[in-house]
Amino acid sequence: MKGSQVTVKGVEKYFGGFHALKNVSLGINKGEFYSLLGPSGCGKTTLLRIIAGFEDPSAGAVFLDDRDVIPIAANKRPVNTVFQTYALFPHLSVFENVAFPLRLKKLPNAAVKEKVGEFLELVKLPKEGGKLPSQLSGGQKQRVAIARALINEPSVLLLDEPLSALDAKLRQHMLIELDAIHDKIGITFIYVTHDQQEALSVSDRVAVMNEGEVVQVGTPSEIYESPSCPFVAHFIGETNYLGGEVAEVLDGKHARVDFPGIGALYVYQDKPLSVGDGVKVTVRPEKIRISSDKPEGQAGRMNVLEGTVDELIYSGFQSKFFVRVSASATFRIFRQHVKYFMDEKAINWKDKVYIWWNDNDGYVVEAEKNP
Ligand SMILES: Nc1ncnc2c1ncn2[C@@H]1O[C@H](COP(=O)(O)OP(=O)(O)OP(=O)(O)O)[C@@H](O)[C@H]1O
Ligand SMILES: [Mg+2]
Repeated sequence: MKGSQVTVKGVEKYFGGFHALKNVSLGINKGEFYSLLGPSGCGKTTLLRIIAGFEDPSAGAVFLDDRDVIPIAANKRPVNTVFQTYALFPHLSVFENVAFPLRLKKLPNAAVKEKVGEFLELVKLPKEGGKLPSQLSGGQKQRVAIARALINEPSVLLLDEPLSALDAKLRQHMLIELDAIHDKIGITFIYVTHDQQEALSVSDRVAVMNEGEVVQVGTPSEIYESPSCPFVAHFIGETNYLGGEVAEVLDGKHARVDFPGIGALYVYQDKPLSVGDGVKVTVRPEKIRISSDKPEGQAGRMNVLEGTVDELIYSGFQSKFFVRVSASATFRIFRQHVKYFMDEKAINWKDKVYIWWNDNDGYVVEAEKNP
């Protein structure tokens, strides 16, 4: 693999009195597609700029493989960046935009021609070399920027919300291409986004940031299924979030929890719990089944509740239901339409329904010891 390992150690950043990065440490593997995910203002760009060398940290270190790069100027680091805006030279052709870093190195014409051809091929623009940036679509411009960032063969590519100027469909498409480019060249990608779908769909691992801190690092499914804190549970996807008290610890991986206004439910837990502990539990809406018929013959420890449909949002491929189970508790549930109108009984507003889910599908996010 040609990529570098990137190690961020205890990085702090102050802008005047404002604490923008708080003790950030990350270990990014060679060739990994690694995302920094978090809401606007959480410090993603600042961290990327520190790795690139456009910004100095107030404290801490950044290593590429075993080399401390903080003393090394941005243009001397084997790192390149693709920005949100295309930053192409408007008066230069696509070919010359991509060739620019090679021209700076005074590479002979024949070598430039061959290499630019190769990288235009990589980003699927083999015939557009003669055009000006103004003659390209947004997606094509961003591909030129990617080719230009890759042509010097950096060992790390930093991408700061590179697709955010594109519409949703094109973004999806470009994301797949970006993933293919990553697979082909095999260097380390650090991808910044505030879009959780984007981060989940392409990353090997994701670091979730909030207010200058890294709050969880994990694979997309770890982040989604086992959020480390309430912030991650809410930020990644939609969820049902309940507070209760442990009534019984079962087989080491499960517990029975009393939820005020709901009753006792079985949950999955990977923390050391005791009876009386306060817990916060998340149940994803797609894990909950809904029907106007009472579920029968369900295996294992099933949670079954009765409720009334408070609200119903139809969106073609699925419906979202808000089901009130008591004066104080409402669950959101997604139901995929496998064969709408055929094997599913329609559920309407105000209907009485049953909702149920397996004990493995409620996850304890937070636990507070009973003093
Ligand atoms: N040069 C600067 N001077 C002062 N404050 C700054 C500077 N650069 C960033 N900040 C502040 O640091 C915080 C983090 O900014 P940053 O640009 O890293 O956020 P971000 O996560 O990239 O957000 P976005 O998703 O909106 O791009 C913000 O509150 C921002 O206002
Ligand atoms: Mg930013």
